[in-house]
Amino acid sequence: MEQSQLEEVKSAALAQVMAAEDESALRDAEVALLGKKGTVSLLSRGISQVPPKERGAFGRAVNDVKKAVVEALTHAREGLREAAIQSELDDRSFDVTLPGIRPTGGTMHPLSQVQERLEETFIAMGYHVLDYLEVEDEFHNFEALNIPADHPARDMHDTFWTKDRLLLRTHTSPGQIRAMRTLEPPFRAVFPGKVFRYEAIDASHEHTFHQLEGLMIDRHVSVAHLNSSMQIMLSQIFGQELTIRLRPGYFPFVEPGFECDVQCMICGGAGCRVCKHSGWVEFLGCGLVHPNVLRSAGLDPDEWQGWAFGLGLSRLVMMQYGIDDIRHIMGGDLRFLRQFA
Ligand code: DAH
Repeated sequence: MEQSQLEEVKSAALAQVMAAEDESALRDAEVALLGKKGTVSLLSRGISQVPPKERGAFGRAVNDVKKAVVEALTHAREGLREAAIQSELDDRSFDVTLPGIRPTGGTMHPLSQVQERLEETFIAMGYHVLDYLEVEDEFHNFEALNIPADHPARDMHDTFWTKDRLLLRTHTSPGQIRAMRTLEPPFRAVFPGKVFRYEAIDASHEHTFHQLEGLMIDRHVSVAHLNSSMQIMLSQIFGQELTIRLRPGYFPFVEPGFECDVQCMICGGAGCRVCKHSGWVEFLGCGLVHPNVLRSAGLDPDEWQGWAFGLGLSRLVMMQYGIDDIRHIMGGDLRFLRQFA
């Protein structure tokens, strides 16, 4: 057999492989070419009939043909497999009635849950709910609240200052000034939010915690109004009649000022870590708005008075859920948070 005939056999063989449209046609082609009586196998067998002088060259040529055919078969097989996968992907129809995989959903933070409920309660009682910035200036956080620079009360508010002498609000009370300057009296408003203190952290102190401030401005406001308002408000918040007590308390921005305690709901008054074994939890500060504060907000104290309160939202959350360590609240531990689903 001539070299040129060999070329013919080769191209015929490759054409046969290429023509195969599926796996079984490919298998047929393989048998026809490489099987016992296959075209290419017969070529190998013919080597012995070639004159000894040409035998080496012929043998190598036959091997090349065989190699080319094997390669073509492998290649074709791969192509078919790819095509099969692709068509499966293209054609696959999905059963939309099969139950899906439930995604793991997030849950509302207990603090957000309590805050939301409080806001609803206050809205129902005719309060505005307002939101103020966490970065404040010295005027709103201190001065306008009757806390001048040399006032000892500043020691109770260890403050995070920014480089340009702004600060992270140490309480929500600066909202009082902002509310009085924007709302037309008479009004009542609450402003919940995050506050910050540069403090040592323990079970009942955090550097970041939450408060809810309340302010009511009207004519002829007295301690009697404050007293009954706190009573009603706390009962509304807890949905039950609570045991509370008012003690004289000093806050520069109210006069007179009070501490309002609530009987500890974790231990029922018996004493535990949260209430520092006293049976009472200091719950909010309140009082009648100081005339200096009214003045710095542009209101005439002879015409307008008001009461204000500042409530520890973090502490409220702890009491409601029986959490005995404030560090859990901002800790971000999922094992803790998942309990509030
Ligand atoms: N701002 C006070 C604090 O963070 C809490 C407070 C006390 C707010 C008395 C008030 C108030 O509105 O009347 O310690």
